Amino acid sequence: MRLVLLAALLVAALPVFAAAPARPARLGLCAACHGETGMAQMPGAPNLAGQRLDYLRNALAQYHDGRRDVAVMRAAIGPVSDAELDALARWYSAQPPAPQARP
Ligand code: HEC
Repeated sequence: MRLVLLAALLVAALPVFAAAPARPARLGLCAACHGETGMAQMPGAPNLAGQRLDYLRNALAQYHDGRRDVAVMRAAIGPVSDAELDALARWYSAQPPAPQARP
């Protein structure tokens, strides 16, 4: 009986998970600097939360081929496959940006 209830709860929760992209396996690589939800964790690292997907994809492609020659980023994405980079771009793009305080 408990199992049935658990199964029903899981099914009810599924659409919530389907709405957002799955958490990428390589997220830990980026989170040290950009945070898990795209809010930067260190000085000099940009926030990525809510950034346009095409912009993130393009930026990653530029680090990849050297048009953006920034050592930390080139080292960070070196071992990551194109499919994984795309998953990371989709993840960060889907995160809600932090509300800005008005000056
Ligand atoms: C050691 C810290 C560090 C790590 C780890 C790191 N980044 Fe970065 N990232 C930076 C810094 C610093 C910049 C700004 C570089 C520049 O001036 O172009 C940056 C820039 C970017 C940008 C461009 C943002 C923009 O507004 O143009 C993207 C996209 C990005 N990182 C994604 C990632 C992803 C995805 C990962 C994980 C695979 C990752 N980064 C790992 C430090 C890091």
